[in-house]
Amino acid sequence: MAQLWGGRFTKETDQLVYNFNASITFDQKFYKQDIEGSIAHVTMLGKQGILTEEEMQAIIKCLKEILSDVEEGRLAITNEYEDIHSFVEANLIDRLGDTGKKLHTGRSRNDQVALDMRLYTRQEVLHTDALLKELLATILHIMEENTETIMPGFTHLQKAQPITLAHHMGAYFEMFKRDRLRLHDIYERMNYCPLGSGALAGTTYPLDRDYTAELMGFYGPTLNSMDGVSDRDYLIEFLSACATIMMHLSRFSEEVIIWNSNEYQFVEIDDAYSTGSSIMPQKKNPDIAELVRGKTGRVYGALMSLLTTMKGIPLAYNKDMQEDKELSFDAMDTVKGCIALFNGMLATMKFNKERMRASANGGFTNATDAADYLVNHGVPFRDAHGIVGQIVLYCIDKGIAIDDMSLEELKAISPVFEEDIYEAISMETCVNKRLTVGAPGKEAMEKVIAAEKEYLMQ
Ligand code: ARG
Repeated sequence: MAQLWGGRFTKETDQLVYNFNASITFDQKFYKQDIEGSIAHVTMLGKQGILTEEEMQAIIKCLKEILSDVEEGRLAITNEYEDIHSFVEANLIDRLGDTGKKLHTGRSRNDQVALDMRLYTRQEVLHTDALLKELLATILHIMEENTETIMPGFTHLQKAQPITLAHHMGAYFEMFKRDRLRLHDIYERMNYCPLGSGALAGTTYPLDRDYTAELMGFYGPTLNSMDGVSDRDYLIEFLSACATIMMHLSRFSEEVIIWNSNEYQFVEIDDAYSTGSSIMPQKKNPDIAELVRGKTGRVYGALMSLLTTMKGIPLAYNKDMQEDKELSFDAMDTVKGCIALFNGMLATMKFNKERMRASANGGFTNATDAADYLVNHGVPFRDAHGIVGQIVLYCIDKGIAIDDMSLEELKAISPVFEEDIYEAISMETCVNKRLTVGAPGKEAMEKVIAAEKEYLMQ
């Protein structure tokens, strides 16, 4: 048991207590951030004359060696240390002797861990954002190629009106774009440095907190030391953004699963992204989409868990906060994995355009347009709705589509119909006449695609 705080104690810690308290098994994940933070701290201590130039140089050199030894596998992080902070400090003291003991001057593990977690989360915000950007590029590519790929749009999972695949994909583009904006907001709010908050009340040493903040790319120091050590809002915000990303991925997955089913066959998932059954040879299952949908619960769980952990904690630091790590790391890794895999699945997925088109033709998706035709010829909308309702009933009875009816049959229900009705209710017309901003018409869609393309170049 290697502990930083033995002095005040007369008895050894009970082994079970030690194990229960220790965090090294998971906080080793931010060994890099811990060392980076220590280097910044020591650099500032040197600048302020709290350490001599030689002490500062010696500690920094040694910290860098510890970092490369860990990264290149020469130094293992083992459970004999309580946490990653103890591991780094103990190794520094082993190598440097008394000078190493000066590392922790003017610092507490409370502000140290607050810094490490913030640095780690900040990096994860950027990684997640980069993955979302790649996913958006895949979606945009599909949009560009499919402004004329007609498919049914659904409400209540019932065929509603014809749209295009580009339009459908465009909806997800908007969702993931908002997710990126959320990440940017979080970054802006969280990018302040808690180091120098001390245990809770700052320190008596003349630390230059602006300088440490600047060294690590923060906008500045946090402005209240009690809040500095006990704020986990940024993590809750990030987990909330992650939960929303997962919700979007899960909805998308659900559609892929439906589209990939035998009944729909709108898409075919690439062999590399599907799995088989151990008993049914014909099976090709959409497991990746199902797993993404399933893992959404885990990420929601992390958010709820942290909100609950934080809700009863008095100021300032309390050990409950150690519970912020495992679940957050799990959620962060899960979200990154899901975005990357979903992106791979989407990029390799084949869209069965004929099936989509046939499905759009088959479900009276042009009924609204038939009613609009009547309205354009002077029939009040409510009457037109009733007339087309009768037409639909007639078609269901005969097992045909509106387009299959002869002009005589149509005229028998309403004399207003003329030869041009067929053109007016063709799938192409239905889609391409919808030209309001955000609608599926080709021209409207192309404007949006051009704007999104520019957005992705930024
Ligand atoms: N492992 C601790 C955590 O993750 C580090 C801070 C320990 N501070 C303390 N006062 N015991 O929160």
